[in-house]
Amino acid sequence: MGIGGRRMRARISGTGMCLPERRVTNKDLEVMMETSDEWIVQRSGIRERRWVSEGETPADLAEVASRTACERAGIDPEELDCIIVPTLSSQYEFPGTSFFLQERFGGTVPCFDLRAQCTGFIYSLSIANALVISGQYQRVLVCGAEVHSTGLDKSTEGRDVTVLFGDGAGAIVVEAAEDDSNPAGILDVTLHAQGKYAKKLWVPWGSALFPERLNADALDERLHFPRMDGRHVFKNAVTRMPEVMAESLDAAGVKKPDIDLFLFHQANLRINEFVANAAEIPAEKVRNNIQRYGNCSAASIPILLSEAHDEGLLEPGKLVCLTGFGSGFSWGSAVVRF
Ligand code: UT7
Repeated sequence: MGIGGRRMRARISGTGMCLPERRVTNKDLEVMMETSDEWIVQRSGIRERRWVSEGETPADLAEVASRTACERAGIDPEELDCIIVPTLSSQYEFPGTSFFLQERFGGTVPCFDLRAQCTGFIYSLSIANALVISGQYQRVLVCGAEVHSTGLDKSTEGRDVTVLFGDGAGAIVVEAAEDDSNPAGILDVTLHAQGKYAKKLWVPWGSALFPERLNADALDERLHFPRMDGRHVFKNAVTRMPEVMAESLDAAGVKKPDIDLFLFHQANLRINEFVANAAEIPAEKVRNNIQRYGNCSAASIPILLSEAHDEGLLEPGKLVCLTGFGSGFSWGSAVVRF
């Protein structure tokens, strides 16, 4: 229950996105490493991704995405009560990227980064929802922002991971839904994690276990680049995503055919086709953008939301299911009415 015994509800009132200008095609990657357009398209569906140009930061991308989300929500960024930045590619070791975003808006509103990798956006949605329905805040910004490209091994050794990832930011504003005649709201967010598989997709670099955290040996061993057991990640993703989607739909009291749009995390087009098949979701209800942007981790789902808005798919009343899986392992699903 919310303030005064009234049940509080939170809704998504604005979406925004920002992709770097620089396009990197599979052909461009062929010059850097032993790979091929054919392999990348066949295994992942990716045709190109965006990578930042020198000097472009996660906060730069986040600012543009966030300003658009605020504008569409009809508020000034100064009116936000809290800023959450899910990211796995923080601008600096500390403080988090959220502080460099908050700086752009001025003021003293609280901000924090959330580390749940590719499920970071769904985790953040859950926190934003809780902050709003508890009555603590009225307007919370969630902005997934990632610059992966500067942390990828662009030699043949790193090709399994490097070809998959892109840079970008996507943002939403979560607001208290005060109009009782408008049923828009976040109906459920269901989250899971399984730390036993933390090292199936991870970066060992900078560990608190290393003397001085960074050292030449670690660099020689290339510990600063992501490592992934791709097959293990794939198998878990295609099992966990339909599972958690069903849980969330159940918790929201919504039947699958009632959902207008399914937006999945963009790790691999084959994963998403698998999930849609397993859950018997018709292809026309699923939107993907991995072909153009690659995997933007915590930014992928909010970028999809922003594109769905642009395409007129988020009209009032539309029911949308968001589902993600990522490193940790972490996974989650949400049901949202617009
Ligand atoms: O948000 C979560 C993030 N990550 C994921 O969800 C990733 C999940 N996993 C996957 O998407 C897939 O496992 C990959 C796309 C990463 C790889 O596809 P795969 O069908 O599982 O291939 P594989 O790892 O079994 O590798 C097959 C072959 C290997 O060569 P050999 O040993 O058969 O000779 C690799 O060395 O493909 C080779 N290979 C490549 N070849 C060309 C690996 N990466 C590349 C590459 N270009 N980029």
